[in-house]
Amino acid sequence: MVTFSSLNCVKYVKHSCHKDCVCVCVCVFVCVLQTDCVNYVKVLHHFNRTHLYACGTGAFHPTCAYVHVGQKLEDHVFRIDPSLVEDGKGKSPYDPRHNAASVLIGDELYSGVATDLMGRDFTIFRSLGHRPSIRTEQHDSRWLNEPKFIGAFAVPESENPDDDKVFFFFRETAVEAQGFGKVTYARIGQLCRNDMGGQRSLVNKWTTFLKTRLVCSVPGNDGSETHFDELRDVFLLQTRDRKNPLVYTVFSTSSSVFRGSAVCLYTMNDIRRAFLGPFAHKEGPNYQWVPFQGKVPYPRPGMCPSKTFGSFESTKGFPDNVIQFARHHPLMYNPVTPLGSRPVFMRTGISHSFTQIAVDRVNAADGHYDVMFIGTDAGAVLKVISVPKGTWSSTELLLEELQVFKDSSSIINMQISSKRQQLYVGSETGVAQVALHRCSMYGKACAECCLARDPYCAWDGHACTRYLPNTKRRFRRQDVRNGDPNTLCSGDHHKQRVVERKLYGVEGSSSFLECLPKSLQAQVTWTYQRHPNNPREEVHPDDRVLQTERGLLLRRVLRRDGGVYQCHAMEHGFTQTLLGITLEVLPSTSSASNPHSSSHSQGQATNQKLWYRDFMQLVDHPNLTTVDQICEQVWSRKRGQSGKAVPDPSIEAPPTDALHSGHKKWKHLKEVRKGRNRRTHDGRPASRAPRNAGE
Ligand SMILES: *[C@@H]1O[C@H](CO)[C@@H](O)[C@H](O)[C@H]1NC(C)=O
Repeated sequence: MVTFSSLNCVKYVKHSCHKDCVCVCVCVFVCVLQTDCVNYVKVLHHFNRTHLYACGTGAFHPTCAYVHVGQKLEDHVFRIDPSLVEDGKGKSPYDPRHNAASVLIGDELYSGVATDLMGRDFTIFRSLGHRPSIRTEQHDSRWLNEPKFIGAFAVPESENPDDDKVFFFFRETAVEAQGFGKVTYARIGQLCRNDMGGQRSLVNKWTTFLKTRLVCSVPGNDGSETHFDELRDVFLLQTRDRKNPLVYTVFSTSSSVFRGSAVCLYTMNDIRRAFLGPFAHKEGPNYQWVPFQGKVPYPRPGMCPSKTFGSFESTKGFPDNVIQFARHHPLMYNPVTPLGSRPVFMRTGISHSFTQIAVDRVNAADGHYDVMFIGTDAGAVLKVISVPKGTWSSTELLLEELQVFKDSSSIINMQISSKRQQLYVGSETGVAQVALHRCSMYGKACAECCLARDPYCAWDGHACTRYLPNTKRRFRRQDVRNGDPNTLCSGDHHKQRVVERKLYGVEGSSSFLECLPKSLQAQVTWTYQRHPNNPREEVHPDDRVLQTERGLLLRRVLRRDGGVYQCHAMEHGFTQTLLGITLEVLPSTSSASNPHSSSHSQGQATNQKLWYRDFMQLVDHPNLTTVDQICEQVWSRKRGQSGKAVPDPSIEAPPTDALHSGHKKWKHLKEVRKGRNRRTHDGRPASRAPRNAGE
């Protein structure tokens, strides 16, 4: 592969590239990597009932095309009409590493993109349709300063279409923080759909463009704010009022010291208020940015020409002083702060960052909830809700964490299909489909379903199933806000039988008592009862007895450890017994014979080590049935050897050689596990560790 540094490329810029791949040789001078010369699709929109509109990098030759896809899915058409291929400059970037944000409104494309090969001339550009193309002022750092475009959306401002606005979300180098080095701010920019540019000045340029900072921060210990400034994604959640969608955003930090990601939520009211606030003003090169105190000309820049707020027919009729003011004051002084002045969800001190967000509004018994699906750069999706707590505050609740891509590739796109009730997740390496809800995985019991607090799910008298607000069923129980099963699940028919298991442990060896609560919020406690006549006491972990996320590990089993262990999940003051395990302690063979002498005891040690390895592998992907099987097999043999019990004839007779037996057992084990994996994961309970959705 030919690899030129990007500096080398500059010298050969004049060579034009062709869009088909024969060009690779020509392109070598431009492309850093050969793979840069393929066509990367950067813009894709539904154009009309039969066509998509798509733009790509076209081997550093941005190109757009109408793609004929037919009327229905069954048509199986996917054809580019060569007569409808056009120049993609100002719509798609040249460089595959650069982003474009765009929105198609009617037959007009609004795109935020670099319009040159070197990625230095950035623009927000309106093209297609019948009106003249229009863009941002060129080479003016007050307008755009090395922006990275994230998203673009149309939002109406009143019932009059003349007031319709387009909002761009991006991050850029902040001009107002120039004294502090290169600082990135997240931005929201606005413009009017009916902007036609100025008459004498700002000709074919936006006259209604304004931008301001989007703040997403948390108060630190010392009273200062810690900011998340790296805007990654924006999702507009439509509400009943088309004029007021909710703006969900994900951010990460740019600091290498403080690592974290956050979701911040903004309202259109707060956004509009910032654009109606003071303009940011800088008198000259040696001045600070201050709020503009003078008289703002009329009509106020940022207002669309319409009958609603004034009498101007078109931006071309705006007075010169308005155009001049707009040209020098694209930046607002007040930032937009998030709802509640803090993130709705946040994770700090983690190695991965959030990259994508999609939100689904779900109707539950106690109101509606916005379920956030958050994609990470490590291939996982988090399912999160924010639950009101009191009047002003709320708590965040992680319902599920799903490892969608095994190769941990970064999630770069997410789409919700309400019709199919699926989330589609895209990364560099694949596309996956994830169900929005999998109620059955919370278990069959009322308490489990209730404690899960998933607004999609309710207990229907028999199982945890999809909650649909309009169906009436007698036993339906759901309480997302409080998740309190004491009030919700009282009555005998909600009670479930505690699962009982038997486990054999060998004195001096280790033993693992597995217990996985189905709810991610549950706190697990263990109790122990030596004999039915003895009192039940809480297990206090120490050096020898470790409590892990997956269960209780007895590192060295003592004879007195035998008895009944119970695993309890506690959540919201509600304690539920999940599992009872009867541990039977067998005296070790080596301790029965002389522990200090023979080679026999060494052979036993090796055998035990092998067995332990097998066992720990099992613990990685545990399945209690399998564990039980193995243990039965191992210990019935042991009992057989020590003459304490007769081996079960249904179990394959173990070979005498200890090493071989370990090997063979392992093979058998793997087969059992393969068999399990072949079955679907859907019915499996949630565990704390991320699960693979694709399996
Ligand atoms: C959709 O747009 C394409 C490209 O302009 C055009 O050729 C086609 O006829 C349009 N289809 C419909 C149904 O309007």
